[in-house]
Amino acid sequence: MPTLFDQVKIGDIFCKNRIVMAPMTRSRADKDDAPSKITALYYGQRAGAGLIITEGVYPNIDGKGYVRTPGIVTDKQISGWKSVVDAVHDKGGKIVMQIMHCGRIASYHNKAMNARTLAPSAIRANGEIYSDISGMVPMDIPEEMTLVEIKQTIKDYIKSAKNALAAGFDGVELHCTSGYLPAQFLSTGTNHRQDIYGGSLSNRLRFTTEVLEGLIKTIGAGRVGLRICPGNPFNDLKDCNPEETFRELIAQANMLKVGYLHVIRMKAGVDNVKLASEFQGDIILNDSYNLERGNRALKNKEADAISFGRAFIANPKLVESFKGNMELSLPDFKTLYTPGPKGYIDYI
Ligand SMILES: Cc1cc2nc3c(=O)[nH]c(=O)nc-3n(C[C@H](O)[C@H](O)[C@H](O)COP(=O)(O)O)c2cc1C
Repeated sequence: MPTLFDQVKIGDIFCKNRIVMAPMTRSRADKDDAPSKITALYYGQRAGAGLIITEGVYPNIDGKGYVRTPGIVTDKQISGWKSVVDAVHDKGGKIVMQIMHCGRIASYHNKAMNARTLAPSAIRANGEIYSDISGMVPMDIPEEMTLVEIKQTIKDYIKSAKNALAAGFDGVELHCTSGYLPAQFLSTGTNHRQDIYGGSLSNRLRFTTEVLEGLIKTIGAGRVGLRICPGNPFNDLKDCNPEETFRELIAQANMLKVGYLHVIRMKAGVDNVKLASEFQGDIILNDSYNLERGNRALKNKEADAISFGRAFIANPKLVESFKGNMELSLPDFKTLYTPGPKGYIDYI
């Protein structure tokens, strides 16, 4: 029976252990939304993980929602990511880039002057978002995407995967939870469209499926992962039947032979661990695991690997800490999203 310390192939990616670093936005991008030197150091420090999934990275300027988050659009951004990838590969780690388009979860304060806030429907998310300029501000009222804009956005996802490959990444993960763009298309509360991208379940699935198809055609199914959390109400997301929605999405992912499914098991009315078992590829489970619970999930064949978020922030050598049965440090929550090295690269 494998343990977290055993090797595994996740999709087409060979990993030295089953301890995955979960994607975490840290808001340290530079003024051009490129990863800086400290970002390469931060990920390099954590390269003991079998696989690192980066923070959410935007595929086009409209997809940026939060302050100081990085993109993979410009040459400077691509070369910044190349330094990150090299720092991880030099230490024998693997790294995939999470593609995150925020859709309506955004403020224009956080975006380029010429960027827009687009969503399936013009429904504002009930909530506020932090901006460096004005502190907490209401979320933007999004513009409803036209069919042309939908097609262009799908192309931008594909381009960002190409750029990720050019930077040397081992693959990409599509962020399809937590109220961001793909989840906005999937959910009845955020998608009131009356064209082929809204209404019936198959129409609401169309955007995500087309993005997955495009990514797979471009970089290969074994290098594409999908992150979900059925029932997750984060960012004012409501769906009338998340279990049905995500069961069908998993069926589509099976047909497309998506490399891995990354599931947050949060208890939100759906048994996500059970639902995940319908996926035929590799499964990464997440949310509040520790060494013992992670190993138990492997033993029960619920997962092929486990991802750890907060534990990796404060314990860069998490794999060694687990091996030594050491007590884990807790992250400083005040510096999760603040600029600069403090609370980022100064954990030992
Ligand atoms: C600071 C922080 C930033 C996060 N940013 C992202 C993100 O960019 N993309 C994403 O899919 N999840 C994000 N998450 C969620 C984590 O990937 C993970 O699901 C969560 O921390 C639960 O796992 P844990 O109990 O091991 O920490 C973030 C979590 C934290 C704490």
